[in-house]
Amino acid sequence: MAARTTSVAFEGAEARIVDVQVQVAAGQQPIFSVVGLGDKAVTESRERVRAAFAALGLSLPSKRLIVNLAPADRPKEGSHFDLPIAVAVLAEMGILPKDAAEEHLVFGELGADARIRPAPGALPAAVAANAAQLSLICPEASGAEAAWAGGDLPILAPGTLIQLINHFKGTQVLARPVPGELAEAEALPDLRQVKGQEGAKRALEIAAAGHHNLLMVGPPGSGKSMMAERLPGLLPALEPDELLDVSMIHSVAGLLERGRLTRSRPYRAPHHSASMAAMVGGGTKARPGEASLAHRGVLFLDELPEFHPQVLDSLRQPLETGSITVARANAHIAYPARFQLVAAMNPCRCGGGGADGRTCRRGPRCAIDYQARISGPMLDRIDLQIHVPPVTPADLALPAPPEGTAEAATRIAEARRIQAGRGHLNAHLPTDILDHVAAPDRAGEALLNEAAMAQNLTARSYHRVLRVARTIADLEGQDGVRRIHIAEALACRRGLAAATQAVSGQALAAQ
Ligand SMILES: Nc1ncnc2c1ncn2[C@@H]1O[C@H](COP(=O)(O)OP(=O)(O)OP(=O)(O)O)[C@@H](O)[C@H]1O
Ligand SMILES: [Mg+2]
Repeated sequence: MAARTTSVAFEGAEARIVDVQVQVAAGQQPIFSVVGLGDKAVTESRERVRAAFAALGLSLPSKRLIVNLAPADRPKEGSHFDLPIAVAVLAEMGILPKDAAEEHLVFGELGADARIRPAPGALPAAVAANAAQLSLICPEASGAEAAWAGGDLPILAPGTLIQLINHFKGTQVLARPVPGELAEAEALPDLRQVKGQEGAKRALEIAAAGHHNLLMVGPPGSGKSMMAERLPGLLPALEPDELLDVSMIHSVAGLLERGRLTRSRPYRAPHHSASMAAMVGGGTKARPGEASLAHRGVLFLDELPEFHPQVLDSLRQPLETGSITVARANAHIAYPARFQLVAAMNPCRCGGGGADGRTCRRGPRCAIDYQARISGPMLDRIDLQIHVPPVTPADLALPAPPEGTAEAATRIAEARRIQAGRGHLNAHLPTDILDHVAAPDRAGEALLNEAAMAQNLTARSYHRVLRVARTIADLEGQDGVRRIHIAEALACRRGLAAATQAVSGQALAAQ
């Protein structure tokens, strides 16, 4: 019977089982080919396997060797097929036991010197091995990462092909690798360093408590980037199930160094020149984009209107559903992307630097053109839109405020504990539950309806005001949503208009 082993192909952050079969066909000419919809890295595997065998003084059997990666219709990408192909061929040659090859899921790249090199995705590969009840063979450098998959799954992490062969001969037995270090949430800059800006700090706290998207609009140097950097410090550390979830994505992107996982929530701040593929994933190499790397954490877009409008609009889907679907050759792949969007911008391109330092020389046109780069549907998804006014010298001269990150984080943790009882964070509450838990009192309802008419709120915005109001009530530990909560939630949506008015000296018709 032909030799076979198992490997994986990645679809989003998930690893799907691939059967690696070596068939010996009859024929005069010796050949070695790999079939099964592989990309260039997979087809080049042949050459790396051939070179690694030569480094061990082995030559491929002079037969027609066909390596089939099944299922044949699923695209396969990456260099991690080298090792499974080598293992299956070694089993076919009788150098490794055939049953050992069959009982393992194999994953790793080969160097021409027969060293086994790490490849991205060791953690999801180990999770897939666990689910399929197979032992795992992975590169030595990926052992610490794979060991996080848990269970009592046996893991072999050889550094070279010869070590693997010796292990099965019984001359050099490999020990099971231990999981890498778990870093506790690291110390982040403190909110206490931000002077003044009480309104913006309050909005940051509401955003952190209910996982709301936040846009800060204000002139240069008012502390927008400074405050965004302080948001991760307000968020609770990742729960164990979230940790695995997030780490799987970072593993596929090859970002877990030495198997080190961290309980800090991801904070990604891509530059505004980011391409669509960099932002949402996909492209020639199926890699998670920034939006997925920010899964369960924060995606910070500084200078929001400077991003390509199409790139911004590609975030509309994940902002609504928490996942991204990218089209591949003959499949659609979904990446998780439940991130919290935090964005910062100046009200107009010149940043508000007019003659008196406040108003813009070019008048309202400058702000209109600049803000038009952000589409209405995109803005509609941002629950909190706040004006961050310039900091005054008097503010800067103030002593450090009594409350900082620690105090706010305690209140946020309590508000999140209340939300956990409902099964969802307020930003993701399904509308039927929202109607039930965020029904405002009579005065609150009247105010909301009035604002909805006056400001032409969309149904989405209407619900988003209710979600923010629910979070404000949770921060106060109140059961019911009252007028005062609705009023604050509505005020937290008017930042763009307020900032524009401050910079151009007049309100825009569109606001
Ligand atoms: N409220 C504040 N309290 C203390 N320092 C501040 C405050 N605001 C700004 N600063 C100081 O100014 C620097 C610049 O602030 P920051 O980069 O956050 O401004 P910004 O609003 O993001 O500006 P830009 O629009 O140009 O990006 C900070 O690093 C900090 O030293
Ligand atoms: Mg900035």
